[in-house]
Amino acid sequence: MPSDFPIGVIDSGAGGLSVLKKIQELMPNEELIYLADSYFAPYGPRSERVIKNRCFENMGFLNLQHVKAVVLACNTATAAAVKALREEFDIPIIGMEPAIKPAADLTRTGVIGVLATEGTLDSEKFMDLQSLYRDRVEIITKACPGLVDEIEKLELDQGEIVKLVTEYTEAFLERGGDTLVLGCTHYALIADIISEIVGPEVVVVDTGMAVAKELKRRLRADDLNSDSKEKSRISFFTSGNVEDQQILLSRYWGEDIPVLHYLNFLLTI
Ligand code: DGL
Repeated sequence: MPSDFPIGVIDSGAGGLSVLKKIQELMPNEELIYLADSYFAPYGPRSERVIKNRCFENMGFLNLQHVKAVVLACNTATAAAVKALREEFDIPIIGMEPAIKPAADLTRTGVIGVLATEGTLDSEKFMDLQSLYRDRVEIITKACPGLVDEIEKLELDQGEIVKLVTEYTEAFLERGGDTLVLGCTHYALIADIISEIVGPEVVVVDTGMAVAKELKRRLRADDLNSDSKEKSRISFFTSGNVEDQQILLSRYWGEDIPVLHYLNFLLTI
């Protein structure tokens, strides 16, 4: 596989941009393809079967773009599908999971919190992860229905986001938690709001950079790091409405970006 082939990054919507930013920061010379499966967002309340199907569909598209590696920049998709995808596709597939280990190392009060989607928290993968640390720390998990929908709204309603985050972090704060894991890439997009609500005593843990570093390590191990000296291109695709996604993804990316519809794109090749 040529090392100048692109890397695919997938999420249900805008959340994976929080990971894409870190990948670009760490490896500016890698060509990247971002896939927002916006038509099917949020993944959180969907069944494992549906999420798996979507992941295979998305991988199929990236395969046609000859990606050399894929990052599932989505905790929910990773929990539902990473194992099956790795069995099917013979390229490095980097998944993500809530950062319980770093949080367990960081906490001083012995109480950590995990905010994630229903899909992630209900998954077998998460149960297994949690059981490794249950003896060491108290883990307060909280599913956050409605939060991804708010983050994906074209008109951001900050008041509603503050209301939801306040509600979802209440039990964690009441128990004296001091380390809060953002177990959904969408939540990293509003990390400032979350930090403000939980206060300066609480460390908010996001896994974007750790995933970017893991990707770099995997590419190096397979001799797939690009040796280009140029800053590379990023292409953005969505399964949702292009005009809307252009506004939404540009807001979180921090600059105007062109977005293409990947189902239409598939019809043209
Ligand atoms: N951003 C995703 C995650 O990390 C999924 C959010 C959703 O679509 O519900 O879990």
